[in-house]
Amino acid sequence: MTKRKITPLCFSFPQLLARVKYTPEASVDEIDILRDLKALITRPVGRGSLEEIIFRMDILHRLERLGMLIINPPLAIERSVDKYCALALLEEHGLPVPRTVVTESPEEALKAFSELGGDVVLKPLFGSRGVGSTRVSDPEIARRVFRAVSFYHGVLYLQEFISHGFSDIRAFVIGDRVVASMRRVAETWKTNVSLGAKPVACKLAEEFEDLAVKAARVIGCRVAGVDILEGSDGPVIVELNSQPGWRGLQSVTEVNIADEIVEYALSELRL
Ligand SMILES: Nc1ncnc2c1ncn2[C@@H]1O[C@H](COP(=O)(O)OP(=O)(O)O)[C@@H](O)[C@H]1O
Ligand SMILES: [Mg+2]
Repeated sequence: MTKRKITPLCFSFPQLLARVKYTPEASVDEIDILRDLKALITRPVGRGSLEEIIFRMDILHRLERLGMLIINPPLAIERSVDKYCALALLEEHGLPVPRTVVTESPEEALKAFSELGGDVVLKPLFGSRGVGSTRVSDPEIARRVFRAVSFYHGVLYLQEFISHGFSDIRAFVIGDRVVASMRRVAETWKTNVSLGAKPVACKLAEEFEDLAVKAARVIGCRVAGVDILEGSDGPVIVELNSQPGWRGLQSVTEVNIADEIVEYALSELRL
């Protein structure tokens, strides 16, 4: 942005002040968000209590209703943060996803464990960076783990294990194209770069690019990091990140990703 003589303003959600019935509707110190800023690029909405998170989303929704360009739009953030919501939408639009069961009941989860072949990945519904995902392939352990998650009021999200050979594809979508992609090569089944997987440059086949772009469109993301596993029955999308990091990807691509995001935001403002 600085390169383009645009003055960026960085702030975090706790700095925001919202007003109703008098103005400014949203501000940070002396900055009136609607009057002084042209667009918002949201980076991680962050952790917080249910109240804090809902307030953060509500303020984004209000700013969008009042005409602010927000990348990613709040609805897209909500859809993608919830793994069940996102996966269901992808399936409804004909995109390939793994068989998945979601329930609050540990008994139902145990039945589903067998249905899914007795080898599943149990994930936190709102997790990221591979944190908290566990592969469960022993029925006794499954019983214990499902009960424990349920005791602490977690929702059980179980997905068939896709044998992917310790690597997968991360496609970075901006607008309606994949601007960069990489293969993430790990030493275990979790291929998150934050857990030590190595980014390796790769040019995607058109089929993969199509999947990633369609997935971003279905969820409503203008910027997205799409995780694609290559199973024995072809590619499946396991996740779509609405607030993807790109440190790993940037280290193996010539494309300047921050530059692409800014260029995209400017092109949307010109419309
Ligand atoms: N169903 C699955 N089968 C095999 N590996 C999986 C499966 N789901 C996720 N993984 C692995 O775990 C990683 C993290 O899962 P993901 O759904 O992307 O959640 P997050 O990155 O938000 O923690 C994926 O990048 C992939 O390497
Ligand atoms: Mg992921």
